Amino acid sequence: MRDVLIDELGAREMVKPVVLDAGCGDGRLLDAIRQSTDAELCGFDSADYGLQNAGFIGSQVVGADIRHTLPDGSWPFEDESVDVVVSHQVIEHVFDFTQFCAENERVLRPGGFAIHVFPTRHTLIELHMLLPLVHRIRSHDVRAAAIRVLTRCGLGSNRELADPATAAAHADYSRTYTTYRSWRELVNELHRHDLRVSYRHSSRLLKRLVLNAMRAERNVRVSHPFVEALWFPLVRSLVSVTLVVEKQQDYHSDWKMH
Ligand SMILES: C[S@@+](CC[C@H](N)C(=O)[O-])C[C@H]1O[C@@H](n2cnc3c(N)ncnc32)[C@H](O)[C@@H]1O
Repeated sequence: MRDVLIDELGAREMVKPVVLDAGCGDGRLLDAIRQSTDAELCGFDSADYGLQNAGFIGSQVVGADIRHTLPDGSWPFEDESVDVVVSHQVIEHVFDFTQFCAENERVLRPGGFAIHVFPTRHTLIELHMLLPLVHRIRSHDVRAAAIRVLTRCGLGSNRELADPATAAAHADYSRTYTTYRSWRELVNELHRHDLRVSYRHSSRLLKRLVLNAMRAERNVRVSHPFVEALWFPLVRSLVSVTLVVEKQQDYHSDWKMH
């Protein structure tokens, strides 16, 4: 995320941009951005989301303007007040994605952009439990049983999910707090809000993971759009996607069609 942000800022020669972290959690992403850019930082998170308490929000970052989501779910920042919106592992937790897109569009200045990193419905592994395909199962009983059986087979990140009650609780948690959307749903909604969408950085995360596993040091660059398009189905099946969303319009209504 940080490398993508630095590249996108560099491409636009933005100086002292205002960067807003939507769903900032404890603020560790903002802290990483603070260490490598001259950005003015702000962030927000839901005051009453899931298990985290209010003191947690923004606790790992200093010098950032941290707020809470307004009671109607809207973002606590003015119209066209930020240059960049970032979010990390948030969109799969957002219940009302229409509102998320509308708020993203509202707070961005024209020419601003957003980077959202999150897993889609296409992922083969549910990334919270590290279990294959359980997020695709709609029936509670089947989902809970799959969590339990796959854990007993030695898969996943949490051995306690072999216990029936814990598996059922996690099936409830994943139904209540996660919504994995397809690529088509995501893009259609972003387009409805007049936002430009690209996945141009998505393969970098997978390449970086492979290089790290091989202990190889190499710069990971953005591929040609055609090459990225070939990678994308594999990338979204294995890791989170990196969406770049732009509030920009190169088409001018005064252009005449001949
Ligand atoms: C997995 S945590 C990620 C936190 C942080 N971005 C990070 O990477 O450490 C998901 C976060 O999304 C937040 N969240 C869920 N729905 C949200 C919404 N509609 N608007 C803003 N934040 C939301 C949750 O409160 C939670 O802090």
